[in-house]
Amino acid sequence: DGDVYKYYADGEWKKSASGKSVPIINPTTRKTQYKVQACTQEEVNKVMEAAKAAQKSWARTPLWKRAELLHKAAAILKDHRASIAECLVKEIAKPAKDAVTEVVRSGDLVSYTAEEGVRILGEGKFLVSDSFPGNERTKYCLSSKIPLGVVLAIPPFNYPVNLAVSKIAPALIAGNSLVLKPPTQGAVSALHMIYCFHLAGFPKGLISCVTGKGSEIGDFLTMHPGVNCISFTGGDTGIAISKKAGMIPLQMELGGKDACIVLEDADLDLTAANIVKGGFSYSGQRCTAVKVVLVMESVADALVDKVKAKVAKLTVGSPEEDCDITPVVTESSANFIEGLVMDAKEKGATFCQEYRREGNLIWPLLLDHVRPDMRIAWEEPFGPVLPVMRINSVEEGIHHCNASNFGLQGCVFTRDINKALMISDAMETGTVQINSAPARGPDHFPFQGLKDSGIGSQGITNSINMMTKIKSTVINLP
Ligand code: G3P
Repeated sequence: DGDVYKYYADGEWKKSASGKSVPIINPTTRKTQYKVQACTQEEVNKVMEAAKAAQKSWARTPLWKRAELLHKAAAILKDHRASIAECLVKEIAKPAKDAVTEVVRSGDLVSYTAEEGVRILGEGKFLVSDSFPGNERTKYCLSSKIPLGVVLAIPPFNYPVNLAVSKIAPALIAGNSLVLKPPTQGAVSALHMIYCFHLAGFPKGLISCVTGKGSEIGDFLTMHPGVNCISFTGGDTGIAISKKAGMIPLQMELGGKDACIVLEDADLDLTAANIVKGGFSYSGQRCTAVKVVLVMESVADALVDKVKAKVAKLTVGSPEEDCDITPVVTESSANFIEGLVMDAKEKGATFCQEYRREGNLIWPLLLDHVRPDMRIAWEEPFGPVLPVMRINSVEEGIHHCNASNFGLQGCVFTRDINKALMISDAMETGTVQINSAPARGPDHFPFQGLKDSGIGSQGITNSINMMTKIKSTVINLP
């Protein structure tokens, strides 16, 4: 039936033989907004076969031609910004302007990846043997980067377009084929984005997008023998995937508990602005959101007052009206956030605003005087709730940050650059931002998490390199 969005395989839009669909619930209305195909394991097998076949000739397609197609896809993606953004608004309740930004940022990411790929993949290495002890100058080694084969991309709901293209573009420029499994919330946005790649004219089978239930095709995809690399962004599922995946390169980003350490000499206005932006953008549903504020006791009252004043100005409501705070992605997510709030309440946290929830919509909430025995001191709410913990020394802040299982990003606010650098050095996170909130972008910067936050490093250059292997040919002279 025409109500169900088709999946994409072999250059065509198809209905699943399962005859089943997966509903996508609009977080705002809590009603079914779209339906996508519930693909079967047999359909996944076919996609993998096609991906393998298409990759062989794609790898022999000149690099400049691969880049040209990516530039074309980027331009089409930007042209389609409005319709894709509309899906983001309906599926994941992303505020209207941010939804457009996500698509434009994605087009830029694809173009940059094409350019970067042409540069770094256009270079190889030449080595001679006599630099290693015992060797004469009798061997010449030529090495270059070759594709891995089929890359499986699994992006999360919070950036179903941007975190898909951050995997698709590097995979393709490097000569790989690509199978996309979009998140359920965000699947239609992802299908629209794939449509742009379809219009650009990539070869059949090179790109596919399978939708469906994780329980039916999740493990089947990640454990599929046809997959040569997995790039995943999401939650705990990533840990399970990394345990089950075969001997293939993995790129994983699994969330964080990004700490914001505020020293006594910090510019408190700048700090408060960044805490509100970092903690409450897209209602806190970002891996890189500020998830705990660790502030020196002597400036805590002043900082909390400034943050409170800014929180009061956040607009709360629907994504169509471009409100700052919009409904969180699912009801179960809202329930989880509420659980963290209630736990903090029982254990005596100070509520800077009244807790308020209607459906999936949770009003922004700052919790002061949070202590280590509260769940919210450690767990990521992925919602508009931000804990503040007061510290008496920098060491106490670093200790709390490093006691977390996560290690994605962190930030420190101080006017003393030496202190900032020492704290950055001591924080066990993939990135530390000095005097700004954590963020992944600009998208060519390296992006990585330590500990349970991930495996490998992302960012355009790192992703291209990760999706290739070195191949050498050695010329042996007589
Ligand atoms: O997974 C990363 C994402 O949640 C954060 O990206 O661009 O909001 O920092 P960004």
